[in-house]
Amino acid sequence: MRSELLVLVLVVGAAGKPLSRAQTDGKKLLLVSFDGFRWDYDQDVDTPNMDQLVQDGVKAKYVTPPFLTMTSPSHFTTITGRWVEDHEVVHNMMFNTTTNLKVPHKKTLTRSEWWDNGPLPLWITAQNQGLKTASYYFPGGGANYGGQSVNRVLVEESGHPDDNETEWRQNIDTVMSWFAEEDFDLVTLYYGEPDNVGHAKGPDHPDRKQIIRQIDRTIGYLREAIGRHGLNDSLNVIITSDHGMTTVKKRPEVDEIILNKYLNLLQLASFEILDYGGFGILTPRPGKEQEVYDALSNAPNLTVYRKHQMPQSFHLAHSQRLPPIVVVADLGFNLNSRFIVYVNKGDHGYHNGEMDMKMIFRAFGPSFRRNLLFPPFDSIHTYPLMCKLLGIQPALHNGSLSVTQSMLLPHDGSKQLRVSSVLLLISILRMFFS
Ligand SMILES: *[C@@H]1O[C@H](CO)[C@@H](O)[C@H](O)[C@H]1NC(C)=O
Ligand SMILES: *[C@@H]1O[C@H](CO)[C@@H](O)[C@H](O)[C@H]1NC(C)=O
Ligand SMILES: *[C@@H]1O[C@H](CO)[C@@H](O)[C@H](O)[C@H]1NC(C)=O
Ligand SMILES: *[C@@H]1O[C@H](CO)[C@@H](O)[C@H](O)[C@H]1NC(C)=O
Ligand SMILES: *[C@@H]1O[C@H](CO)[C@@H](O)[C@H](O)[C@H]1NC(C)=O
Ligand SMILES: [Zn+2]
Repeated sequence: MRSELLVLVLVVGAAGKPLSRAQTDGKKLLLVSFDGFRWDYDQDVDTPNMDQLVQDGVKAKYVTPPFLTMTSPSHFTTITGRWVEDHEVVHNMMFNTTTNLKVPHKKTLTRSEWWDNGPLPLWITAQNQGLKTASYYFPGGGANYGGQSVNRVLVEESGHPDDNETEWRQNIDTVMSWFAEEDFDLVTLYYGEPDNVGHAKGPDHPDRKQIIRQIDRTIGYLREAIGRHGLNDSLNVIITSDHGMTTVKKRPEVDEIILNKYLNLLQLASFEILDYGGFGILTPRPGKEQEVYDALSNAPNLTVYRKHQMPQSFHLAHSQRLPPIVVVADLGFNLNSRFIVYVNKGDHGYHNGEMDMKMIFRAFGPSFRRNLLFPPFDSIHTYPLMCKLLGIQPALHNGSLSVTQSMLLPHDGSKQLRVSSVLLLISILRMFFS
């Protein structure tokens, strides 16, 4: 009896101290997205800081975005862990095929009716479990979900410069102070480069290499700032993107697509979003669906789909919002509607199986293994990894932690010890009271 009491006292001593989340599974998490950072952009530029990250953390060879390789759809898959057909953010533009409403991307960022379709983004799920979260320019962060907003939100205005390195550093300082001084648990930070340069100049232009060097310096600055704020042991960081980038094919190299050559758009379609790179959508006028489908089936350098017949692997067929006809151009082609007014030299929106659409993934921090080259995976599996890192219960999602979990260090033993102490305590108490 006496020895049992002694054990009881020891166990109560060990288990009695309340645990902060940082001592258990949950650490702080920073998710950084560099828009349009193709998986191989670091391979033809000197990137000392990203090279250092390979030694200090995890580098996936590449990550595959969901089909619909565009900014809003792909970011929202990352932050919800849901396929695009489920979360229904099916374009960068908000649209209504009945009213012909089209809202440009930046203006959608605070329009909750575009984002709030049921699936909950990580910020809200984390907040509902007691965490403090923030979004710095991250797509979807500016909307409300079931009336609930993200604890702290900054939304990027239209016309905001994407490439101001001084501002990039200030944003990092701001985010670090949120973690260190205000005890935020999750912050998502978005940068509009290298997407902007990729569109304007093309992925092979020297300016793209220039912006990768700038991003590399920024990553160096981030690591230094993490140390300066005393966050080395409590903050995990994931750096990723939303899609890649490919060179747009132009005359005289190719005959550019002009869809009106194959079907009379005005007569056959009541709604369209075309002239937006490689991904196009159409609502046929009543009774015209077959005609539209047949006409586009004969057009070269693209694939036309009836929405409901899209391959299952696209995870788009069940979308309510997508119109009945979806057109995907072959890599590098733009879907011009009537005239060639399109100026981009680089674009995305193509099939997510194309290597040019794949994107980067890097991670480091106290929970990650070091010097680990990780095989490619689908970005849908980032969501359960983030929940694991934060120590929260995920919402319903389409990812699988088993794909990404082996990036993490084996479970830290101290928590298991505490759990077994508690179990031991319970069994001793049972013994006393039985
Ligand atoms: C489109 O607008 C109409 C008219 O305002 C509205 O009834 C309908 O619900 C809208 N559709 C969608 C998908 O939001
Ligand atoms: C870049 O950002 C800094 C800090 O916000 C600002 O002072 C500066 O004017 C900006 N430069 C340009 C060219 O916009
Ligand atoms: C934090 O990590 C950085 C990068 O690895 C390192 O240079 C720095 O010395 C670390 N700081 C502390 C206080 O451990
Ligand atoms: C585009 O289509 C034309 C006509 O079918 C074909 O000859 C050409 O090879 C295609 N171009 C590319 C780059 O696939
Ligand atoms: C994705 O997850 C949702 C929620 O669990 C589920 O309803 C849906 O069927 C899943 N989609 C696929 C393709 O498994
Ligand atoms: Zn883009």
